[in-house]
Amino acid sequence: MLNQSENMINTERSAPFPLDADNISSLFNTAKIEDYRRLMTYYRCAIMEIETKFNVLNEEFSLQYDRNPIESIKSRLKTPQSIAQKLKRKGLDLTVESIENNLGDVAGIRVVCSFPEDVYMLADALLSQDDITLITKRDYIEHPKENGYRSLHLIIEVPIFLAEEKRLMKAEIQLRTIAMDFWASLEHKIRYKNDVEIGKNISDELRLCAEISANLDLKMDGLRKLIENSKYKKIV
Ligand code: GTP
Ligand code: MG
Repeated sequence: MLNQSENMINTERSAPFPLDADNISSLFNTAKIEDYRRLMTYYRCAIMEIETKFNVLNEEFSLQYDRNPIESIKSRLKTPQSIAQKLKRKGLDLTVESIENNLGDVAGIRVVCSFPEDVYMLADALLSQDDITLITKRDYIEHPKENGYRSLHLIIEVPIFLAEEKRLMKAEIQLRTIAMDFWASLEHKIRYKNDVEIGKNISDELRLCAEISANLDLKMDGLRKLIENSKYKKIV
């Protein structure tokens, strides 16, 4: 499941896995490396579109409420290695068509928000836009994973406008609070830096940490409401 760094980076831009022809043709049954490169360019365009949508929402919200709901946005393109790994794991063809038809998370955008309410406000605002189609929604905040993981995951389709065509591209958006992000990145490090199987004690501790940080989120949200209400009362 977690085949990549929890810290999303723009893999293509910083290019730790260059899309060289040998690399791609050894992983995929593709006659033309250009086809793979073109598809990855389309996914990068989809990332740009979605990042812009969130930046616009952040600007609008800060104008209206005098605070930014978004702490940070991190995006990444899945590496050729992990695309190939996922297709193999699912018993799917290792072709460029198969990537586009079967994978929803080649383009990934992680939006880290200040408060839990912001997560839902931003998700609703994005999904109400008439060019966005929701494909799947997994609410791991309402229903945390067994290990304590919390985030709101959306797989959506967004159009990109090219010189001569419009294409619908899929992307995975993960929305979470700073506290959820803090937990997820440390849990990822603990799990993947150590080769040993994590025992029950450590799993229990991790789940407890997730609950503590969820409580912290609730408390901070309560404080925010309190401050906002008292501000409002002063004005009135
Ligand atoms: P993938 O095969 O990775 O796409 O899993 P999936 O299709 O079952 O999707 P899921 O929604 O479970 O997870 C997708 C992504 O969410 C992962 O690649 C991680 O970035 C993140 N994620 C999911 N579960 C966990 C978890 O338990 N811990 C951490 N740190 N991240 C997680
Ligand atoms: Mg995934």
